[in-house]
Amino acid sequence: MRIEKNYSLLKHNTFGIDAKCHRFVEYETVEEAQRVTEMLAADEPLLIVGEGSNLLLTGDFQGTVVHSAIKGIESALTANGDILLKAGSGETWDDVVACCVENGWQGAENLSLIPGEVGASAVQNIGAYGAEVKDLITEVEAVEIATGRISTFSRESCAYGYRDSKFKHEWKNHYLITHVTYRLRTVGAPLNVAYGNIQAELDKRGIAEPTLKQLREVIIAIRREKLPDPKVEGNAGSFFMNPVVDREVFESLQHQYPDMPHYNIDEAHEKVPAGWLIDQCGWKGRTVGRAGVHAKQALVLVNRGGATGEEIVQLCNAICQDVKSKFGILISPEVNII
Ligand code: EPU
Repeated sequence: MRIEKNYSLLKHNTFGIDAKCHRFVEYETVEEAQRVTEMLAADEPLLIVGEGSNLLLTGDFQGTVVHSAIKGIESALTANGDILLKAGSGETWDDVVACCVENGWQGAENLSLIPGEVGASAVQNIGAYGAEVKDLITEVEAVEIATGRISTFSRESCAYGYRDSKFKHEWKNHYLITHVTYRLRTVGAPLNVAYGNIQAELDKRGIAEPTLKQLREVIIAIRREKLPDPKVEGNAGSFFMNPVVDREVFESLQHQYPDMPHYNIDEAHEKVPAGWLIDQCGWKGRTVGRAGVHAKQALVLVNRGGATGEEIVQLCNAICQDVKSKFGILISPEVNII
């Protein structure tokens, strides 16, 4: 177990914000996670982090930051030919995807190169290119902070939604996740190439029937093209969630903006890309002080160098206000603002 006092979180948030925490604790095993739960006082502020790729720190954290460093990926073949892959919560998510693709296990490839760790994948229900991790998760193992007891949650009990789960609400700060189990297929079902420009990119490369590896390469190329590298310019991927609007609201907007992209949710609702709304407000590529909006994707806010969390929040608020006045739609951050 690693314990640090008055510790800089610079390496633990992809926005590159230099904030400190009172105490930083890292566990490497389930037993260590249980010992961590004994160290946490009930009234002490607690922040559980993964890679910090969905986090915006607005100041020093006057409490304990806990991080999992549980590693390991184990796989087992089930009777029906699926693979159950159990990964430590501190594993890098993309290493799990790479492992699946190398072994020909299908299901995770569209989630290639999403930053973050295994534990966060189960909290956040990460998603991209028409896939969400909830469709792979079978089980989440965690240590209950109040009791130190090991709990196992089925996918159903986690109440997964769009970038959402019980771990973000009633279970928030109640559990330290130790392992996540995913189900992958070994027998090839059709690959999911319908979303966005995947098909166009495959056509460009002359690939008619992609292998898992080729699909992963295409997704990595699309992401690298659109999303800034946090090592070059601090960011946390999509800063905002795509708002879901009522059908009447959507229809009146569509009347005004016939080219507005949208995704059907159900009869009464439609999802509108926040990136498009922000772009229409003229924010793409703009810089305010040391904070800015990425030039290739308006959904991504960036640290142009040395920005504070407060500066990013001010930019976020200005964008939300503009989108509200132009479209009447309230967009909200996907990123965890602390
Ligand atoms: N668009 C614009 N201008 C922009 C950005 C987007 O007009 O500046 C338009 C695009 O042309 C497209 C639509 O908006 O028609 C959607 O854009 P895009 O597919 O690039 O992004 P998204 O669907 O809004 C979501 C996820 C991403 C994920 C991509 C790909 C959210 C909030 N974001 O973005 O997730 O990688 O789909 O599947 O759901 C993340 O969560 O950090 C993340 C990067």
